[in-house]
Amino acid sequence: MFPFLNENIFKLISSCADELQVDAYIIGGYVRDVFLKRPNKDIDVVTIGKGIELATKLHEKLGKEAHLSVFKNFGTAQIKYNDLEIEFVGARKESYNRDSRKPIVEDGSLNDDQLRRDFTINAMAIGVSKNNYGKLLDPFNGMQDLENKIIRTPLEPQITYSDDPLRMMRAIRFSSQLGFEIEEKSRLAITSQKERIEIVSAERISGELNKIILSAKPSVGFKLLFDTGLLHLIFPEIVKLQGTETINGQSHKDNFYHTLEVLDNLSANTDNLWLRWSAILHDIAKPATKRFEDGHGFTFHGHEDKGARMVPKIFANLKLPLNEKMKYVQKLVLLHLRPIVLAKTEVSDSAVRRLLFEAGDDIDDLMLLCEADITTKNPNKIKKYLQNFEIVRSKLIELEEKDRLRNWQPPLSGEQIMELFGLTPGREVGILKNALRDAILDGLIQNDFEAGKKFLIEKYNELMIVKK
Ligand code: CTP
Repeated sequence: MFPFLNENIFKLISSCADELQVDAYIIGGYVRDVFLKRPNKDIDVVTIGKGIELATKLHEKLGKEAHLSVFKNFGTAQIKYNDLEIEFVGARKESYNRDSRKPIVEDGSLNDDQLRRDFTINAMAIGVSKNNYGKLLDPFNGMQDLENKIIRTPLEPQITYSDDPLRMMRAIRFSSQLGFEIEEKSRLAITSQKERIEIVSAERISGELNKIILSAKPSVGFKLLFDTGLLHLIFPEIVKLQGTETINGQSHKDNFYHTLEVLDNLSANTDNLWLRWSAILHDIAKPATKRFEDGHGFTFHGHEDKGARMVPKIFANLKLPLNEKMKYVQKLVLLHLRPIVLAKTEVSDSAVRRLLFEAGDDIDDLMLLCEADITTKNPNKIKKYLQNFEIVRSKLIELEEKDRLRNWQPPLSGEQIMELFGLTPGREVGILKNALRDAILDGLIQNDFEAGKKFLIEKYNELMIVKK
């Protein structure tokens, strides 16, 4: 039986291949995902010559709804049709130059093409021409590796990884995403040639890193990156979190493994990549702020603030976006202790109002991060913290309904304050605005125009004296 989900499109490719009298195969990730029953919209078609002609013919048959792009220099073509992306390439034999990722490409047979691919599970092909329609061509037992959940290279791993060092990251990504083991020989090859990752662009590296982060249990990928030594090269800041220290019988936890636990906990509740990044970075400044204080043990004062300030450089090094996504991560890192402090003490309305004011619409994400941060193994403590978080959550709802503090705007604008007291722009206006905000956050007055105006008139003289 033919295992494809979109069989009509394959029937059409098949009839085009027959008209051109060319052998064509579906290959790579699409074939792997058919057998794993994972949806995939990227179809790679490999032909023995005539890749562009095949794409052009298929485009004619699909009509106006399909969009064709031809890359003559590379001998490849692409068709976009509905939500499918179909790539056409001629089978190739490649050899690589040690210092560059750029291969010297020559035409080859299907077998040459399969040999130069990254993993046996990604090297399987299925025929779509009349003479081989639906036939699986699996020269390296990729099917067996799929069943046994093994990542294995078609060639000696040293050669496959050296040809394209990004494949070291891909091996770990597939292991984390699919829950597969990397064959030992392959893991050793990654460890021994990890330095070759340096010829790969930061964009491609972080593309794979983000896929690891988005897997169901990202700690699997991070541990492999750490154990092979790749993590030390691509993301040294997180490696510094690893290890414990003991002074006078007092020690601190291993913040690397703690971070991974937080990341896994959080990943069970969200697919938001940037929220997951905030878990990765929440304790990033612990090594830089670590002190030993007699009588207290180890402290990490200010790690949330310093951590937030470290985010832009880490994002820049990894070529992650330096936009509002980064600001969101910074904000969560900065605020990550706040709900925990609340949950450990008596929860006051004023502290919850301030938290709501600062977190704005990101308050729910912040609460998810903080709940994931509970990694104590003491069941009594877990119970107590979770109960207190529930109190924080219900107070958040109650106060938000009453005071509308999410994305808060002052009930009197700067202009209105100036008009009320006949002021010109200057320090006085700032003092009045801050006093108004504090009075609302402390619950002294309602969050509305009339209450605000009354409060400012009453307090005006007092506040202006303090100013002098
Ligand atoms: N490939 C390779 N070496 C790489 C990248 C890709 O050999 N460094 C081959 C593999 O056969 C792979 C195919 O090209 O299956 C398509 O690659 P890509 O679209 O990047 O990845 P997929 O394997 O399809 O996986 P995903 O869609 O999850 O990225």
